[in-house]
Amino acid sequence: MLRDNPVPVVSFHFGAPSREVVDALHRVGTFVLVTATTPDEARAVERAGADAVVAQGVEAGGHQGTHRDVPETDGSGLGLLSLVAQIREAVSIPVIAAGGIMRGGQIAAVLAAGASAAQLGTAFLATPESGANALHKQALTNPLFVRTELTRAFSGRPARGLVNRFLREHGPYAPAAYPELHHLTSPLRKAAAKAGDAQGMALWAGQGHRMARDLPAGSWWRCWRVNSPRPGRRWRAEGFDDSSGLRGRALRRGQGWPLRPRRPGRAARRLREAAAAR
Ligand SMILES: Cc1cc2nc3c(=O)[nH]c(=O)nc-3n(C[C@H](O)[C@H](O)[C@H](O)COP(=O)(O)O)c2cc1C
Repeated sequence: MLRDNPVPVVSFHFGAPSREVVDALHRVGTFVLVTATTPDEARAVERAGADAVVAQGVEAGGHQGTHRDVPETDGSGLGLLSLVAQIREAVSIPVIAAGGIMRGGQIAAVLAAGASAAQLGTAFLATPESGANALHKQALTNPLFVRTELTRAFSGRPARGLVNRFLREHGPYAPAAYPELHHLTSPLRKAAAKAGDAQGMALWAGQGHRMARDLPAGSWWRCWRVNSPRPGRRWRAEGFDDSSGLRGRALRRGQGWPLRPRRPGRAARRLREAAAAR
């Protein structure tokens, strides 16, 4: 379908596609993104030929994009800043940081940590442009919902949502059964939404949910630009703050810098090709 009706960008969650799939998407000018939650997963993404890797921290709202569903590792996900730094050193494709980002200062932080871009989900949930249920939008800042948790209760795979009755009652024993559990609970969630019962819905949200605002997406974007510290010229050129002295040390040792070559032109080229193919 995507070969016959190409789109500018395709992103994969829950694992990397085969090289053949990525090549087929590239042939029709599509830019390919794949989520990774560990450096090993990021290496698999790079091997698959993807244009960029989305580094998803454990703070992120919605489903964790882990490549394999291993219940023993539940709750041991890496925080975003740590993950971005590790993935940045593991691969040479651009890194897009996702998870808990709600303000411009955080965008500046992930760029300083080595990301090429930031991806925000929860921050857009409450905007008028978002198609989220009104109860879901209100719950993001409702003091009744003070925290989020990773749970298998709704779908059978770990996903971060606001802690409500459904999550509290069914989370502790929910099996690793995706997508069966998703289909099983779907009618219940729909009925809860129809009845106006936010305690029975899947209220996906990242850890920064309390900072959500019902501003139009365009105004939001301008706020972030205003409250983000401006990276210096060197940051912009190299995507890195050299205050740690890492760069100088690497150059003295003859290792070159960046330690692993970046290909900043590749992402831009793919976007241009995708636009030209439309
Ligand atoms: C309501 C909601 C739905 C999501 N649905 C998807 C999805 O269908 N596919 C996907 O790759 N990621 C999905 N995500 C995860 C985002 O891609 C991203 O990792 C996450 O929103 C980043 O964290 P943040 O929500 O704290 O900004 C979803 C996130 C939310 C909040």
